[in-house]
Amino acid sequence: MLKRPHILVVGSFMMDLIATTERAPGPGETVAGTGFRTAPGGKGANQAVQCARLGAHVTMAGRVGDDAFGREALQSVRTAGVDLSRVTADPSAPTGVAHILVEDTPQGVQNRITIVPGANFTLTPADLAWMEDGVRAFDMVLLQFELPMDVVEAAAGWAHAAGVPVMVNPAPAAPISDRLLACADYLSPNEHEAALLSGLPLRAGPAGVEAADLERVAAWFRARGVKELLVTLGENGAALAGTQGMLRVPCVPMERVADPTAAGDSFVGAFCTGLCAGLEREAALALASHTAALTVSRMGAQPSLPTLGEVQTLLRERGCRSVDPAALDPLAE
Ligand code: RIB
Repeated sequence: MLKRPHILVVGSFMMDLIATTERAPGPGETVAGTGFRTAPGGKGANQAVQCARLGAHVTMAGRVGDDAFGREALQSVRTAGVDLSRVTADPSAPTGVAHILVEDTPQGVQNRITIVPGANFTLTPADLAWMEDGVRAFDMVLLQFELPMDVVEAAAGWAHAAGVPVMVNPAPAAPISDRLLACADYLSPNEHEAALLSGLPLRAGPAGVEAADLERVAAWFRARGVKELLVTLGENGAALAGTQGMLRVPCVPMERVADPTAAGDSFVGAFCTGLCAGLEREAALALASHTAALTVSRMGAQPSLPTLGEVQTLLRERGCRSVDPAALDPLAE
């Protein structure tokens, strides 16, 4: 019987400013776009919302600015049921923004993102000192790289010292210290981040990324203390390399990909929720791949993140054998 887990996300809030275009401009060029919208985002907030929409009890720690974007960002996360008692508003720094270009061509849809962290970067380890004791209340802590690195390292250190599992999503890619790797029970880079951080190649073979390359990269991280490496591989799905060998999960195809923004956040949030709820690794991966598939079929970050009911419906439609949709019902209670 699954349980509703308690998850702490220490991470970013952003307001996403999203322009869509049929062709991205080159340097010095101007093109006419096809649409514009704003939507709450930020890797931390996206992961928190995804965990909550799948039934987890979620607390988020972070910082917004005392401005309209900040209020809208908080409202979206609050509406998903996330506890915001550990979030503060900075009176002088603006809420973080992400400038997103979604290029929609006959060959496919891709995004380009520039973040301006604003208030996210005024958070300090001292703001999280409550974690030293308080972190024990959680089943897992999720971290990304849109906060100052000393904050990420401090949060990971407190969780690790208290024996609470830590998931580090090293995005956007940045140098990662051995100290942080030693605290990461789970590390979830995409294939580019995995290659960049390890300095090892991940070459494409006929069936996606070569298994031998994945094994080598996983061994590199394992030697630095990472127990489980979860590599997202875009249209080739994802691979989990760790204590129980290598598991691969294919990408769940959707009729239309509208916007890949937040696909990784959705995958990581769903995987952690499933695992902490009591699912086996293979089932947690299946939950994550179906959740992320729904996310890419819709526009925007948080507006695109599916609910438990929507994921259960997709699991039934696709006849997924790795996870029984009815077994997820306790997460809705
Ligand atoms: O992972 C997607 C997110 O990255 C967007 O919502 C944007 O805010 C950036 O942080």
